[in-house]
Amino acid sequence: MNELAALRGRRVVLGVTGGIAAYKAVEVCRQLVEAGAHVIPVLTSGAQKFIGALTFSALASEPARTELFGNKDDPIPHTRLGQSADLVIVAPATARFIGKYRAGISDDLLSATLLATRAPVLIAPAMHTEMWEHAAVQENLEVLRQRGVSIVNPESGRLAGGDYGEGRLANPAAIVLAAAKVMARGGDLSGLRVIVTAGGTREPIDPVRFLGNRSSGKMGHALAINAARRGAAVTLITTNPLSGPEETSRSISEIVSVVTAQEMYEAVLSRFSSADVVVMAAAVADFRPKVMSPEKIKRSLGAPEIYLEPTPDILAALVERRDRQVLVGFAAETQDVAEQAAEKLRSKGVDLMVANDVSQSDAGFEVDTNRVIVLDSAGGVENLPLQTKTALADVILDRILNLI
Ligand code: C5P
Repeated sequence: MNELAALRGRRVVLGVTGGIAAYKAVEVCRQLVEAGAHVIPVLTSGAQKFIGALTFSALASEPARTELFGNKDDPIPHTRLGQSADLVIVAPATARFIGKYRAGISDDLLSATLLATRAPVLIAPAMHTEMWEHAAVQENLEVLRQRGVSIVNPESGRLAGGDYGEGRLANPAAIVLAAAKVMARGGDLSGLRVIVTAGGTREPIDPVRFLGNRSSGKMGHALAINAARRGAAVTLITTNPLSGPEETSRSISEIVSVVTAQEMYEAVLSRFSSADVVVMAAAVADFRPKVMSPEKIKRSLGAPEIYLEPTPDILAALVERRDRQVLVGFAAETQDVAEQAAEKLRSKGVDLMVANDVSQSDAGFEVDTNRVIVLDSAGGVENLPLQTKTALADVILDRILNLI
């Protein structure tokens, strides 16, 4: 099937902001029209310093718009554009524009259209490497992602002024393909029942102490939220409460709070037969104290000897009982990540293993970003770049979808 088919007949507002890459938006416009979309360009005043509205008008389906006010035929163009759009793309999106959109400021036609629309939004940032890597820009993008905005990451390459680095606008064809995916996505996981486990289990030593680990649950939560956004019926079994807006938790069909590996085992197993996919993102304790002291262990009695026993292996139990279910495991390693993960994939018998090196400070436990290797049972090995857990969740879900 034509991979751009989802764009046919769609009303696409193409926002262009003021960066050197604005000239490439002409190509985005042309390719969108070629794919059958009805394209309405909207240029900010900054964009017009780099490229003329006339160029877009000549190629698009309607004349380019530039003004919020002063149009006699259409006194409120932003609401009309926003309401009637099937998709809003901003390419290139400058750091300034991204900040403005995140803050909800609407002081020109494009920013007002973005606030007035309920259509999906796709943003293709372009800026110098230093700006792209700035915490403010990354935080703004993360907030936008959490609001459901799709982002086409910039590429590495030559930048304005002869510099070289990450920040160059993604290739126009990649932007158009991402737009088609957004249009096709809406519900690409609909009809699927997905169980996601998240967080680290706590194995009690006495009523106040436990054996635990540093997992924050963020990766599992991002997987659950994104799977729900993409139409799956999601059961989230978690040791950590889900943070974020009320709508986020409402989008998840069932949230089950658990503490220990045993509780997680029971929660997963009792729901397994009706699931299509289980993603074990939780860091489940491998060992627990053999007995829990009913009273707080007293310091005055000296250091206790604590005997450990293995917890039930949830994934192993699922592999034994599976009929059609896709099973995904996670591996947190501190050395030889790829080899350890390949071995774990084999020994556990899962379809996908997502491995991360938790010895790095920007990946794995407690942080919002992750860098992982995805291994599949056919021998595929994919090294994914550092990205937010939200973005990574969509990549992992794409891989799961490929297996179904
Ligand atoms: O062997 P290791 O604990 O590193 O394996 C990690 C994977 O196995 C994770 O997906 C984790 O959720 C799962 N696991 C499990 N039951 C356990 C321990 C880990 O399902 N008792």
